[in-house]
Formats: sequence, structure tokens, C-alpha cells
Amino acid sequence: MVHPNANDNYLVANANAKINLHLEVLGLRTDGFHELAMVMQSINLSDKLKMFNCEHNNINLKSNNNTISNGEDNLIIKAAMLLKKEVGNLELGVDIELEKNIPVGAGLAGGSADAAATFVGLNKLWNLNLEINELEKLSKEIGSDVAFCISGGRQLCFGRGEVLEKINYNDSSLGIILVKDPSIQVSTPIAYKNYKEQYSNTYLEYESDFENKRNIIRTYDWSDKYLLNSCKGIQNDLQKTVRPMVSEVEKSLKILSELPGSHLVSMSGSGPSCFALFQNYHDANKILNEHFNEFEKAGLSAWACSMMSHGVQI
Ligand code: C5P
Repeated sequence: MVHPNANDNYLVANANAKINLHLEVLGLRTDGFHELAMVMQSINLSDKLKMFNCEHNNINLKSNNNTISNGEDNLIIKAAMLLKKEVGNLELGVDIELEKNIPVGAGLAGGSADAAATFVGLNKLWNLNLEINELEKLSKEIGSDVAFCISGGRQLCFGRGEVLEKINYNDSSLGIILVKDPSIQVSTPIAYKNYKEQYSNTYLEYESDFENKRNIIRTYDWSDKYLLNSCKGIQNDLQKTVRPMVSEVEKSLKILSELPGSHLVSMSGSGPSCFALFQNYHDANKILNEHFNEFEKAGLSAWACSMMSHGVQI
């Protein structure tokens, strides 16, 4: 394809979605955010960002999804503007074409993954030569999950979600069935607000207590085998507050847990998407095909996915 403003200088960044294998709310921070202990995992449901280096100095975005804004509230635009500001070069410009495949408002970090791809892609396209840790640091200003989406894989995520610790594991062969009712979205701030109203009496207060909890989570091996066989201690706290309020989540969890061979059935992030793990992709895909009518009858979109060992890829 020939782009009208391009000086044949473009790249494509692949932005992987994530699921939460674990999400524990530890308490409230002084900045108003929640202190979390999570395990996030990249999956091969991904958006594609085609970025054209341009002569102009604007950040232009268009996408194949007319339900999302192409303006300054889009995390792609926010990330690109922040990067320009950071390197102090307001002359930089880009035209971005977004192919949106990750459902919006689903708990899959679609917006954060796009912001992550913007940081990594523009760092290369604009020859900025920032280190990954510099991009991760910058990404905190855009959202709590953006840092994870840059490097991805399977990681422990603490703090607001942006303090990352790599988990030592070989490439995962697990399969996933992911479902979402396309007619609903869950607002992350509202999910946290409701959680606080219902569960703040269980919050830990002191950093030493947070650290004790982190240490417990660090001792789990988080291998595929552990995820399939020992669901003890693995949870998504937000599910406790979202499930009773969102019937589509209840429905999704019920269908997934009744599938033959499903393990660790859980909501992802603040929902409403839910997933089940399978021994491998082949099993997940087979079960998805065999139960396709059931998902359709329940009004659920469904995907068979694999785990990915990285976040953004160019
Ligand atoms: O960081 P992000 O933009 O994804 O957060 C969206 C909202 O979710 C925050 O404004 C906050 O209300 C809530 N949140 C929270 N604690 C976190 C992450 C998010 O309370 N660790």
C-alpha cells in the first residue's frame, strides 16, 4: 500500500493483549490507586499499528474500529505526544493506522497494549534510541498496565501493576479459550471503586504487610503445570465484585467451567472477558469448535489463543 504522506519509511508494531492469571488487591496507596499483586500473561490476540514516518509534525490516527476515539483521549495519541515531549523534539510526526482486534473495555489491556506498541514503534521509527527501561518508566504516565505490555510474557506485577518481575519459565504451551459478551464493557475505575466499598475492611495497611504478601506470591512457581493442577491461592479479587453485578460474567464463568478439560476458569482484569486454560492450543481450539453453538447461543464471542513470551513485536 502506498501512503500519501509517507517517505516509504514505516513499520508495523504488533500489540499483544494480556490476561490476568492472578489479581490480588492488597490495599490502598497514598496516590489513590490500589496496591496490587498480579501475574499477567501475554496472549496472541493482538492489535496491529502501522506507523508512517511523516514530514508533518502531527500525530494522526485512524482505525478500523469506529467505536473508539481517534483523538487526544486515545492512549496511542497520549503515548506519542509524551514521547515527543520527553525527547524535546516537537517536529516529529507520524500517521498511525490501527487494526483493532482486541475487544475494548474487556479487561484485556487493549488500550495499554496499543500505547506500549506506540512507545516501542516510535522509538524505532523516530530513531530515538531510548532503552526499554526508559520507555517503561515513561509508560507509567499513560496507564498501570502499559509497562507490562511493552515486554510482556508472564510476569509478576506489583505496585499499581507497573512494577515488573520476570518469572523464570520456558515458553508456555498452554491453550486458552477466551470469551466476551460483545454488548458490554466494564469500567475499570468503577470496578475498583465498588471493590473498595465492599472490601476495604480487608485491606492491608503497611508496606511490610504488602511485602509479606509479595513474598508468598514469589514462592509459587507459576509454571504451566502449577497453573493446571493447583488452583489454590490463584484468584482475581475484582471478580468477587464484578461477577454478582454483571450477569454476562456469571454466564461466561459457568459455561467455561463446564467445558471438558478446562482449568483455572477466571475473569481477566476488571472484566467482563473470562478465560479457561487447557493443556495446549490444539485442545482449546477443538473444544471451542465443538462448543461453538453454545457460545453463540449465549451471545458470547469466543477465541482460542496461545500464550506469548513477549509483548510488543516489530
Ligand atoms: O492505570 P489505569 O489507567 O489502567 O487505571 C484505571 C483506573 O483503575 C484508575 O484511575 C483507578 O481508578 C483504577 N486503578 C486502581 N488501582 C490500580 C490500577 C487502576 O485503583 N492499581
